[in-house]
Amino acid sequence: MDEGGSCIRRRVFVHKRNRPSLESVFAAPTAAELKSGDEEEEEDEIGAGNRRRKTVDVQPVENIDSEEDMFGDNDSFAENSLLAQIDDLEQKYMQLPEHRKHTTDHATEDPCAESIKRKTLSITTVGNFTELKLDEHTKNQSGHEDVSLEPEADLLYDVPSSQVLFFENLHKSSNDFRDPSAKERDWSSSSHKTANEELPTNSIDQAQQIDESSSKVRASSDVNRRKSLKDHLKSTMTGNAKAQTPIFSRTKQLKEALLSEEINVAKKTIESSSDDLGPFYSLPSKVRDLYVQFKGIEKLYEWQHTCLTLTSVQERKNLIYSLPTSGGKTLVAEILMLQELLCRRKDVLMILPYVAIVQEKISGLSSFGIELGFFVEEYAGSKGKFPPIKRREKKSLYIATIEKGHSLVNSLIETGRISNLGLVVVDELHMIGEGSRGAILEMTLAKILYTSKTTQIIGMSATLNNVEDLQEFLQAEYYTSEFRPVELKEYLKINDAIYEVDNKAENGMTFSRLLNYKYSDTLKKMDPDHLVALVTEVIPNYSCLVFCPTKKNCENVAEMICKILSKEYLKHREKEKHELIKSLKNSSSGSLCPVLKHTIPFGVAYHHSGLTSDERKLLEEAYSTGVLCLFTCTSTLAAGVNLPARRVILRAPYVAKEFLKRNQYKQMIGRAGRAGIDSFGESILILQEKDKQQVLELISRPLENCYSQLVQEFTKGIQTLFLSLIGLKVEKRKHINYQHEEWKKGHHWRSQRY
Ligand SMILES: Nc1ncnc2c1ncn2[C@@H]1O[C@H](COP(=O)(O)OP(=O)(O)OP(=O)(O)O)[C@@H](O)[C@H]1O
Ligand SMILES: [Mg+2]
Repeated sequence: MDEGGSCIRRRVFVHKRNRPSLESVFAAPTAAELKSGDEEEEEDEIGAGNRRRKTVDVQPVENIDSEEDMFGDNDSFAENSLLAQIDDLEQKYMQLPEHRKHTTDHATEDPCAESIKRKTLSITTVGNFTELKLDEHTKNQSGHEDVSLEPEADLLYDVPSSQVLFFENLHKSSNDFRDPSAKERDWSSSSHKTANEELPTNSIDQAQQIDESSSKVRASSDVNRRKSLKDHLKSTMTGNAKAQTPIFSRTKQLKEALLSEEINVAKKTIESSSDDLGPFYSLPSKVRDLYVQFKGIEKLYEWQHTCLTLTSVQERKNLIYSLPTSGGKTLVAEILMLQELLCRRKDVLMILPYVAIVQEKISGLSSFGIELGFFVEEYAGSKGKFPPIKRREKKSLYIATIEKGHSLVNSLIETGRISNLGLVVVDELHMIGEGSRGAILEMTLAKILYTSKTTQIIGMSATLNNVEDLQEFLQAEYYTSEFRPVELKEYLKINDAIYEVDNKAENGMTFSRLLNYKYSDTLKKMDPDHLVALVTEVIPNYSCLVFCPTKKNCENVAEMICKILSKEYLKHREKEKHELIKSLKNSSSGSLCPVLKHTIPFGVAYHHSGLTSDERKLLEEAYSTGVLCLFTCTSTLAAGVNLPARRVILRAPYVAKEFLKRNQYKQMIGRAGRAGIDSFGESILILQEKDKQQVLELISRPLENCYSQLVQEFTKGIQTLFLSLIGLKVEKRKHINYQHEEWKKGHHWRSQRY
């Protein structure tokens, strides 16, 4: 196998290892989990293959082979197509010595490889991967909370790295990355109001500016910078403490006293369960100010207010709520989390499906943590301590992926601290019905329900159908609304014609327009689906996401689009794109993926789970500030992500080899038209004639039901849950045996569905 091949294969390999099978998840003893944490957890799509298929008309097959590309049935990948030639060139390029270096560099940088590097048993089994080494980066990542070991760092004693990073971002944004051109971005201009009239345009602009300034593309992310900034922060804080500047400390003390007084009042309000919820839902008025300051949110949507004031919510009953994508579900959960942290003085766990969303939430909530005095702790990838550090005064908000959340709950049960967890919030609750990851989530919730009667559980999603079953499992109340603040239009593209999805029409769609774009014969071969025509209607002034079925296809489509795009696109925010390339190179020892090298100058990049976390952060920052205007991506960007997208294009109605589910479709198109970012959103699903019937069913049928994944894998799933409970010493074998019988009879959760 050549080196280039090994690079791609390595990523696929890492990825496959990262997808925990039911067996591996359940078989692992809890003690081991506690020591090492879980494996990486991004959702998997079919991996990027080294050699892609070059047949013209291939139907999806049952066995998913990571070597294959879903787009075998597309001309773009036919034997003599340009992309096939590029593919071959790419193979040759992979074999060049300098590229080999790149692949090796990548191998050591990939965060997905972290756990594998630490667990050497898997390294030895796969040829080239034995070269992976434990470098500085690895050590730093795994020991990221070591600040507590430094005696002189008293002031930072308990500060999680996420909050140190937040300081770093503040510092950076206040220095050299201010760029007025970012403000010219159309989506932030006042002419693009959202459909929601409650939305304060000025404050959104203000928030946009804050966001933009705090997330400028890093011009020079040299490795030492973070270190020195941390040192700088420590010495500044220590310096302040020593100098005891009277004005500063007095003002600060006054502010803190005021806040703690407000919190005391809030505590009493919440305890008294009176109807008067004080200035801001039982929270100090400072929280409301922070929402205006950091997020530009001045007023809650009506549904948010209704939901927060439900009697059942005030009584701390478990709750499931469901609203369309971009409906503003997060804010309700955040307010409930803040009530728990500040007023009830309990820790909170928030579970999210992907590392990328965990990191997005970490950066969004760190500022609240700093201002309001609680810790925000990351449990994703290689981050997170087991058992979590016991805090002296302040409470912790753990933000975790599904797998890390499970390990955290195990460790809290084992150390007798589960009752410290006042609230568990599960975002994208529909994930509970999805394979082995769903089973882990289900197990986590079952353990909490079983071991801590005082822990409240809240789940939310835009794509739930059989809610009653879930309600039964979680013993939860339910709230729902159809509110979506920004209009989202759905379209289908068949050949040259665009149809609008229309439930009232006989076959579910009405003709909208013909695509107006002149293609030469060569262009037609390169881009048979007119992707370039569709994206150029939007970019560079607005942003566009193109969902692709596989990782390799993401890269191919990005390259293909840039082959065709006019050179004019190179001029758009040229300097910042150049800086982005430099930052990406710095983040991976001077090398850059050849595809990104080619596409970034056009404002285009791919986004999938094969990116390192540094690459992903840099690319996301550039995309959210408009430096990049087009992401070709996989389903890892499909749920919960709040990135700008005027238009979302679905490259084909498939995820890997599977035909798209209604839930997946809804989540993907829901990335378009996000409140506070865009005033309007649209989705276009590209389909071939052969898929038309299935797509027409897809757009009209109800959302899929969630099914218990533990019950699906009955013997393995339930038994292992029980074994795990024995391991955690929460149950005795005899009692468990009895319960197992009950479960089998269906007495426990009553229905197999939920
Ligand atoms: N009351 C509000 N006023 C203005 N903007 C709001 C309000 N509530 C939420 N938003 C904004 O709306 C956007 C979408 O909110 P959020 O991410 O919570 O959506 P969601 O319901 O979780 O969607 P999804 O199901 O796609 O994850 C965010 O940018 C958020 O800041
Ligand atoms: Mg969400």
